[in-house]
Amino acid sequence: FKNVYILAIETSCDETAAAVIKNGNEIVSNVVASQIESHKRFGGVVPEIASRHHVEQITLVLEEAMQQAELTYKDLSAIAVTEGPGLVGALLIGVNAAKALAFAHGIPLIGVHHIAGHIYANQLITELKFPLLSLVVSGGHTELVYMEEHGSFEVIGETLDDAAGEAYDKVARTLNMPYPGGPHIDRLAHEGEPVLNLPRAWLEEGSYHFSFSGLKSAVINTLHNAKQKGEVIEAKDLAASFQQSVVEVLVEKTYRAANEYKVHQVLLAGGVAANKGLRTALTARFKEMPDTELVIPPLYLCTDNAAMIGAAGHMLFQKGRRGSMSMNANPGLEL
Ligand code: KG4
Ligand code: ZN
Repeated sequence: FKNVYILAIETSCDETAAAVIKNGNEIVSNVVASQIESHKRFGGVVPEIASRHHVEQITLVLEEAMQQAELTYKDLSAIAVTEGPGLVGALLIGVNAAKALAFAHGIPLIGVHHIAGHIYANQLITELKFPLLSLVVSGGHTELVYMEEHGSFEVIGETLDDAAGEAYDKVARTLNMPYPGGPHIDRLAHEGEPVLNLPRAWLEEGSYHFSFSGLKSAVINTLHNAKQKGEVIEAKDLAASFQQSVVEVLVEKTYRAANEYKVHQVLLAGGVAANKGLRTALTARFKEMPDTELVIPPLYLCTDNAAMIGAAGHMLFQKGRRGSMSMNANPGLEL
């Protein structure tokens, strides 16, 4: 039995990350260089700035990941890299670094879908049991993904407009909070009361799709109307009401889908999985479905990292998937 070590690279948005994963489920090293400070004053991620930071950081981050792992390139079975979706200029830095290393050291290359990575973050804390359902909630995605077996991803519901994280960030911006606003709203929500009546987008009966742009507009309108009438709305109450509206829909649709598809596991994934309100509400709801195991990753595996790309990369490696030197960044890659 030979240990399989995979070096993984993630540069799809604003974190430059590299990690080494052993046998698909053990983190040997996990390095993340965040650019959040550089994007803050612009209120969001600026693609050109992201690319420049990735160029500056990628070599350092890779060296650090290899050094912490105390391995040489000879020990690696493959190099996995996020191929898409994401910002094209940002993805390119990771893809080119991976191709250069794979070529120079004669190591197989594996392209990984960013969302597959978020889902496989869960494999770093537990064994995946199929069929399973994953609720993926991040800055760019809100999806319910059904998995019959390893590597099979069926999107049974997705957002028709804004992603959950995007809605958090936009509402936070309206309340003059710094980017990324999700964690700030989350904190504030726990100090307030959900007294405002904001909409919940259930969509048609039985639909597993989501929509958050109406809710975002309702928040903006509520603030605007109050201002005109000279009324005061406490930011903490607005945050609590907004969060309740988002969380209620996410939890309920996930619960219904888990019930309909009779899954063994429900996995939470993506940056918004760090949300305390969501974690608490999901945990409470799934107590009513004791035969289904709810898996919630630790915070450092929810937001973007390369360890998750290594976990998904390992699964693809075992399935015999190999990338070629013609691999390109694919900002619109399908799961
Ligand atoms: O997965 P991620 O790191 O990057 C993408 O792939 O998009 O997710 C980032 C998103 C941001 O929108 C951020 O505001 C949100 O995750 N987020 C949160 C929390 N922590 C991060 N949203 C709500 N509550 C949180 N505690
Ligand atoms: Zn992500």
